[in-house]
Amino acid sequence: MTKKIFSGVQPTGNLHLGNYIGAIKNFVNLQNDPNNFCIYCVVDLHATTVKQDPKELKKNIRETAAAFIASGLDYKKSIIFNQSSVPAHAEGSWILSCVARMGWLNRMTQFKEKAGKDKEKASVGLYIYPILMAADILLYDATHVPVGEDQKQHLELSRDIANKFNLDFNAPNFLIAPEPLIQKKFARIMSLKDGNKKMSKSDPSELSRVNLNDSSDEIYNKIKKAKTDSEPLPDNEKNLSSRPEAENLLGIYSSLSDQSLIDTINEFSGKNFSEFKDKLANLVVDKISPISLEINKILKDENFIDKILIEGSQKANKIATEKIKNLKKIVGF
Ligand code: TYM
Repeated sequence: MTKKIFSGVQPTGNLHLGNYIGAIKNFVNLQNDPNNFCIYCVVDLHATTVKQDPKELKKNIRETAAAFIASGLDYKKSIIFNQSSVPAHAEGSWILSCVARMGWLNRMTQFKEKAGKDKEKASVGLYIYPILMAADILLYDATHVPVGEDQKQHLELSRDIANKFNLDFNAPNFLIAPEPLIQKKFARIMSLKDGNKKMSKSDPSELSRVNLNDSSDEIYNKIKKAKTDSEPLPDNEKNLSSRPEAENLLGIYSSLSDQSLIDTINEFSGKNFSEFKDKLANLVVDKISPISLEINKILKDENFIDKILIEGSQKANKIATEKIKNLKKIVGF
């Protein structure tokens, strides 16, 4: 059976190793399975839930699309587009806002983290952003959604919204509750400076993350300065639970070398961090530098990126317009 895959990435600059390992690398694997039909979206409407400089936003939309392509997404196989160019996302989001319950949104932990202490000053958009995310997914009848661990709760909300809509409007199976595709391992890449904190583009410390457009020198420097502990590397997985930095670095190595965590542990067991970090830095440079070079090459040709996004938007529009037409009919518009 064909799986319909949908996922999105915010164009907020600084795409990093967490986005790559937790999401984009998986997007590419899914795309390369001929049984899948994949749609990947640069979610620019989501980006504006926090203040954006319009010029930067435009640049970041192109940069995110370039990162998709440089990482191996093929616009001939997958639909690649930006969210704001398909009006059904905003329209669907409104209809679903009237289905979702305040109590559901109040439980969203990411809102609490992102809004911080002063949530009265957060935008309303930031609060309702998981509903927009549900609209993204449900408009395309996506069956599977590849994401990192941090998006799990939002996907559960999408499922709840789909089920409630179908029930409220007596439209069985009209909206498809999507399955999350979250990798069992490496779905949460942590900061290089604190193994208990998620690697994030909003971390003020550049040393906390490897960006997809970092140069080789920057990557070597960041891996060299990554926080570790004073023990040699462990010889089994159990000893890792109390060593978050070691666990994170070994996880990054495993994911990028496509080998299991236990094989990586066996490879480095008893070695000291400096030896492991040399190997890790070489591996990260091997995997990320070609992407970084390709991003910069693609970015030189803005027309090429714009053309891909326009073509992708036309294809996405066809699907989403049909769905929203039926959605509106069901609601009574
Ligand atoms: P965003 O832009 O914050 O992140 C994009 C993807 O990267 C994953 N990710 C990570 N994975 C592992 N470790 C990390 N440190 C890490 N940081 C980020 C995220 O889980 C995500 O998969 N709301 C979404 C975008 C979105 C979306 C959608 C996703 C909008 N509509 C529909 C799926 C389907 C977001 O803000 O992701």
